[in-house]
Amino acid sequence: MAAEILKTESLAIRCEEDIVLVRQKTRKLAADIGMSIVDQTKMVTAASELARNALIYGGGGEAIFEILENSTGQGLRIRFVDHGPGIPDIEQAMTDGFTTGNGLGLGLSGSKRLVNDFSITSVVGEGTTVEITRWK
Ligand SMILES: Nc1ncnc2c1ncn2[C@@H]1O[C@H](COP(=O)(O)OP(=O)(O)OP(=O)(O)O)[C@@H](O)[C@H]1O
Ligand SMILES: [Mg+2]
Repeated sequence: MAAEILKTESLAIRCEEDIVLVRQKTRKLAADIGMSIVDQTKMVTAASELARNALIYGGGGEAIFEILENSTGQGLRIRFVDHGPGIPDIEQAMTDGFTTGNGLGLGLSGSKRLVNDFSITSVVGEGTTVEITRWK
């Protein structure tokens, strides 16, 4: 059965301070649905990495938060959308240690490990969307 969306919120990602706001909103919504502190922190860490990627590589973008409900309970889904240069080789970008910047190359691969669902779509010249979901 498809999940129902109980609530939608969004935040712009334009500067460093917006990443703090993304972290705070992620923590709040995860707590609201009763996620454990450990799971809240996993979601916050992943969201922080993806918001930073959207800012640094995507030139800014948006985070869309959705509280989901299905037959087994509630979850938090966050979609990071940017209209930057896109990623030419997603498999390479997902590899531990691959970076085109000054990072450790662990943001995407690490985020994937912290959530239940992870999907990334990117079109060169159009932008990148990364979606993560963690169920309570
Ligand atoms: N939103 C994006 N738009 C364009 N390229 C991206 C985007 N997100 C990631 N990338 C590309 O994928 C690479 C890997 O991203 P990842 O987050 O795993 O590592 P990093 O940002 O380089 O370093 P770290 O996150 O560990 O500090 C980036 O170096 C960049 O080339
Ligand atoms: Mg990164």
